[in-house]
Amino acid sequence: MGAKTLPYSDIDLSRWREYGHIWTDSLWLIEARDRTGGHRLDYHGNFVPQIATQTFLRYTKEDDIVLDLFLGSGTTAVEAVRLRRRLVGVELKADLVEYVRGKIPPALLDDRIRLLAGDATDAATAARVRETLAAMGAEHVQLLVLHPPYHSIIRFSDDPADLSNAPDVETFLDRFEAAARNGYGLLEPGRFAVLVIGDIYTGGELVPLGFYCLARMQAVGFRLKGIVVKNIAGNERGKGKAASLWRYRALAGGYFVFKHEYVMIFVA
Ligand SMILES: C[S@@+](CC[C@H](N)C(=O)[O-])C[C@H]1O[C@@H](n2cnc3c(N)ncnc32)[C@H](O)[C@@H]1O
Repeated sequence: MGAKTLPYSDIDLSRWREYGHIWTDSLWLIEARDRTGGHRLDYHGNFVPQIATQTFLRYTKEDDIVLDLFLGSGTTAVEAVRLRRRLVGVELKADLVEYVRGKIPPALLDDRIRLLAGDATDAATAARVRETLAAMGAEHVQLLVLHPPYHSIIRFSDDPADLSNAPDVETFLDRFEAAARNGYGLLEPGRFAVLVIGDIYTGGELVPLGFYCLARMQAVGFRLKGIVVKNIAGNERGKGKAASLWRYRALAGGYFVFKHEYVMIFVA
């Protein structure tokens, strides 16, 4: 039987039984962060490399271009190198972009891997991404990754443009939507977007940020393909004394300690 491939991945469906390493269940219980292939836990708020591994293998082909609008410490950039994908990364903090540049093999930097310091919500940044794509001989990207701050849970900087500094949830969502809209315009029609997001508590109330962001993605025009619930154990949060304190607070306040976040998959 000949190879049977999809337009958006290198998976050969005629050998579908051999892809046990690609997860298709909606619950991801990840035991430990993948620390191989140049990945390290060096940034509060980075995601486990497996999110990049799974989505790149499933939704991109080799040499495809991934756009990450909240690059952070560059988990997706490192994974793009490992899986031979190309990537354009945008991050607000210029010093962090410099740091991520240091993780990328010099031969690939400013060639297959391009990193920009800028505000992902800004139309000017989208224009710069477009120019960058033109220099790479492309018009669109083939996968969009969005891993914004979970509002003010972790403050990433003092910059007012930083989504973690949005004065309230509504402003956060408006700014998130602006970034998603920029991403939508840059993504090849029919290709996929990945949103990694968690819910938050504020003022003794659960704010379902994940669901709100999902609604904003749909408002932009993305169609929902999947909601994966993923444990957050690999983020090294909630250990020791702090964990007991959270448990006490949960018992006392009638709520639950977050152990999950979402990996939502959309198509443009
Ligand atoms: C949750 S972290 C992303 C972590 C990343 N996935 C990783 O594995 O390292 C969110 C990042 O978004 C950045 N950020 C916040 N507001 C931004 C904006 N308006 N434009 C671009 N980046 C922004 C923050 O500086 C932070 O590094």
